[in-house]
Amino acid sequence: GRIAIIASGSGSNMAAIASACDQGDIPATISLVISNVPGARVLARAEEKQLPHCCINHRDYESRDAFEEAMLQALRDKAIDLVVLAGFMRILTDRFIREYYGSLLNIHPSLLPKYPGLNTHQRALDAGDKESGATVHFVIPELDAGPGIIQARVPILPGDDASSLSARVQAQEHRIYPQAVRWCIEGKVELRNGKVWKDPSL
Ligand code: GRF
Repeated sequence: GRIAIIASGSGSNMAAIASACDQGDIPATISLVISNVPGARVLARAEEKQLPHCCINHRDYESRDAFEEAMLQALRDKAIDLVVLAGFMRILTDRFIREYYGSLLNIHPSLLPKYPGLNTHQRALDAGDKESGATVHFVIPELDAGPGIIQARVPILPGDDASSLSARVQAQEHRIYPQAVRWCIEGKVELRNGKVWKDPSL
């Protein structure tokens, strides 16, 4: 399997998936790391791990379509078969999603369908929720609404703020994202007729 990771930020999920590939837990190679943000920490981490990486800055393109076409070209050039969004902070158009439909994953820091969009941790705290978590899902055109593959739950503790809650959720992200990627690479999870199919052995 040939994986691409697309990220805008620190890249801790990228690093967790890369480690799982290194250790043989995921039978695949990270063939490309793309960031849309020049200087993002994810690019430094990719460099450190000697993973092929590039910056495709959306600001260098005159339209969202042109930006996405540049990313699609990079993915095609590397014959990528699984695209993993890991803290990628741009909305993708239908055209992009269609090209990798069923091979396009995202992780979202909430117990979807709760709190799609931004500021999930603060919203969970403000609502007085007793738990939060993260969800790995297939990407469909509707934002953060794709069918879920795996979820992790964490407690919300007295005294939590967005940053302490985020750290607790992220520790779980680093566990469930490699797991979901592994299932997809092994063909144990698929998007079929708009729903998640799981191998009975799981
Ligand atoms: C994660 O919390 C993920 O759920 C969200 O963006 C964050 C990315 O973190 N979509 P990192 O760049 O992987 O450290």
